[in-house]
Amino acid sequence: MSEMTIIDDAPERGRTDLWPFWRKAYAQGDPLPKLAGHVNRPTYRFDEGDPLPEEYKGLLLKMLRHEGERAGNKSFLGLMGTCLELAEALFPNQETKLLKSEYLAEELKHAIMFHRLAVGLDRAFALRDVPYAHYAFHLPRESWADDAYFHFFVDLNGAFHSRDWRASSYIPLRKMAATVERDELGHSEMGYYFLTLICQDKKGKALAQHLLGKWYPAALDMFGRSDSPNAPRFIQWGLKSVGNAEIRQAYKQYVDRKLEALGVDLPDERKNRRFL
Ligand SMILES: [Fe+2]
Repeated sequence: MSEMTIIDDAPERGRTDLWPFWRKAYAQGDPLPKLAGHVNRPTYRFDEGDPLPEEYKGLLLKMLRHEGERAGNKSFLGLMGTCLELAEALFPNQETKLLKSEYLAEELKHAIMFHRLAVGLDRAFALRDVPYAHYAFHLPRESWADDAYFHFFVDLNGAFHSRDWRASSYIPLRKMAATVERDELGHSEMGYYFLTLICQDKKGKALAQHLLGKWYPAALDMFGRSDSPNAPRFIQWGLKSVGNAEIRQAYKQYVDRKLEALGVDLPDERKNRRFL
């Protein structure tokens, strides 16, 4: 049985009814918004092994550096270790810990996929350690609710970026985009499921309301500056189809709808922000 078959049919082999969470989300149609790309730009297509224009390769590596999940990235393996410790220390029961282990298994699957891509692109990069630069990865996770928000917001960021890679000019990335998008949305839904459990009682909802002030601005900041000088270059080369402001706005509309359904009040979107 080939490795991909083992990875591909894992969801069918009797996981908890809840996992994978993406199944329910996609059963009701496309859960994510369409990102209206910039149409009047040249269409590039580069496959593995093709000679890449220098600027293009530089931008592609810059984008992949943000994508931590890579077997050769020591910082990613460290983050996964932290996730296990958090589950052990903060999760309320066996079922939620099992869900977290399913999440980890899937991130390790992504680590293999991005490793393959990295080896085909730049062997030195495949082995490079890239510490998580964005402050959202370093916000203290002191409660189960913190960890739930981390997954709801941060994995969703991954899903939105993967949605955009479906039209990527780099073919190896385009090929894996739908799988990574689906999985990351599932991880975000896991976080959301935990939040619905936490908000079932008054104390839990008050905690969720309080912690939202910490996680909401960080989540919106993960899309970078709206006037980023690189964004037009990414779009020109077909590595991204929309700018930071557009994808952030689409993301905000999605999370606001979900948060309102939880019954929490939305923070002011400009409060405590570092990258507008
Ligand atoms: Fe994820």
